[in-house]
Amino acid sequence: MYNIAVISGDGIGKEVMTACEYLLDKIDIEFSFTYGNAGYECFSLNGTTLPEETIKIASKSDAVLFGASTSTPGEPSPIINLRKALNVYANIRPIKSYKGANCIRDDIDFVIVRENTEGLYSQIEYGNMDKMIAERHITRKASERISKAAFNLCIKREESKVTCVHKSNVLKKTDGVFKESFYKVAKDYPQIKTEDYYVDAMAMYLLTQPQNFDVIVSSNLFGDILSDESAGLVGGLGLAPSGNIGDHNGLFEPVHGSAPDIAGKNIANPCSMILSAAMMLDYLGEWETSNNIKNAVEKVIAECKIRTPDLGGDSSTMDVTKAIVRELI
Ligand code: NAI
Ligand code: MG
Repeated sequence: MYNIAVISGDGIGKEVMTACEYLLDKIDIEFSFTYGNAGYECFSLNGTTLPEETIKIASKSDAVLFGASTSTPGEPSPIINLRKALNVYANIRPIKSYKGANCIRDDIDFVIVRENTEGLYSQIEYGNMDKMIAERHITRKASERISKAAFNLCIKREESKVTCVHKSNVLKKTDGVFKESFYKVAKDYPQIKTEDYYVDAMAMYLLTQPQNFDVIVSSNLFGDILSDESAGLVGGLGLAPSGNIGDHNGLFEPVHGSAPDIAGKNIANPCSMILSAAMMLDYLGEWETSNNIKNAVEKVIAECKIRTPDLGGDSSTMDVTKAIVRELI
């Protein structure tokens, strides 16, 4: 029995989480779900986007499932603060071509490893309307830790190359530390090839040669932007899962946000949330079930029959979820 903290959040976060729980209820593993609040609606009710109680529930769990939250003006981001509170420092975002989805190529299969605890997402901003300053914190400790996570993941995925993405030609000090730390850690992994690119060039290479990447490691903001770009290469945010991994906990969430443009219509693609749950099962050591779920999702997408509108279909969130469950059991 696994204790799972479930934080649905706002908008389609709730809808894809309902779908995900429906699927988890149907598989042969027992879960005990504890529910926590976070996000905009939570702020309207409790005056905070991330109550202490939610952090407590998440810390005590075996793993956390998070939907998505709508940003609240003037308030900190609950998901960024939750990642920091749990110290889940490595944000793992696999990008893969699915047959039947609108991918620019059919041979894309890489993973972005995004640093989760610092960078420009320190949320330390100050000044006045004439001049505002945002602090960008880069430490050797966090840079080495995320590089190690990237190299270890490269070994686990049986791949051969890690690409470091930075902007050290302009951000000489902060990204100087990031890049140096990467190459220092690389010395412990002589069998793995390394390369590094400036983030602007990398944004282009992701479009022109995405098939050439295995593991990409970057800082918080760059990793965030490149992962949405990468999702666009393989059919959009409806197919982009993620896992936030630390030494003591794991938090699993779709890459997308609360999508107010489609919220409440029951047309959100549940695959990114369901694939995130598969990543959670992998983290918990339930490899076989994790693979079965990934295969079921792949099969439903490849059949091109039951699909949400983002993939060109007209099926609902629950239609797709039920089709995936039918493949599973
Ligand atoms: P978004 O990721 O919510 O949506 C971007 C576009 O992708 C929209 O057109 C949306 O309809 C589509 N999309 C996203 N997920 C989809 C799915 N599962 N199925 C079908 N289409 C999907 O980003 P946006 O619109 O920039 O932000 C909306 C809100 O979400 C904002 O308040 C933002 O701050 C928040 N946000 C929260 C995140 C989180 O909780 N982790 C991450 C990103 C944004
Ligand atoms: Mg993002």
